[in-house]
Amino acid sequence: MAEVKPSREEAFSLLKKYNKNEGLIKHALAVEAVLRYCARKRGQDEEKWGVIGLIHDLDYEQFPEQHCRKTEEILVCENWPKEYIRAVVSHGWGICTDVEPQNDLEKVLYAVDELTGLIAATALVRPSKSVMDMKAKSVKKKWKDKSFAAGVNRDIIEKGAEMLGMEVSELITDVIMGMRDVAEEIGLRGNPDVSG
Ligand SMILES: [Fe+2]
Ligand SMILES: [Fe+2]
Repeated sequence: MAEVKPSREEAFSLLKKYNKNEGLIKHALAVEAVLRYCARKRGQDEEKWGVIGLIHDLDYEQFPEQHCRKTEEILVCENWPKEYIRAVVSHGWGICTDVEPQNDLEKVLYAVDELTGLIAATALVRPSKSVMDMKAKSVKKKWKDKSFAAGVNRDIIEKGAEMLGMEVSELITDVIMGMRDVAEEIGLRGNPDVSG
């Protein structure tokens, strides 16, 4: 059977079929938005980047022990294109797979995945509870405090930025910009009028 390019709608219903946890859905939407932003910035295929971002943690709720491997299995059954599957699996490089990110899309996914978590956590402790008025500087402050959002692996983000030839602050700004596009949906619109 020929591989068909999955639509955003198909990807989202597949995501919801395997994930009921609201936090995981929000994470998927955040990563999707960031990938879309980065694709636009690079003149790349926004739909493709977005769909891959949306589906990247498909198996995480039900099969955390088989993370990435189970997603691969599901997407093969769903007849997804090989390049989409490879991109999704490569975000677990060095953690749960040995598929190394090679192209820009894969490197961006690898670099921004953990960063969306750090940015969300940083937004929630700000007076505005918002990403709308947030700057990279606030995230860099929290970056140094290893006990803050301790689950976020800073080494992976650094490695990802290095792969892309970017400064971490530049990467942080891109992630903030992407997350702003879905601030409402991911619960990070907050109240930017509240300053502090
Ligand atoms: Fe993951
Ligand atoms: Fe993720």
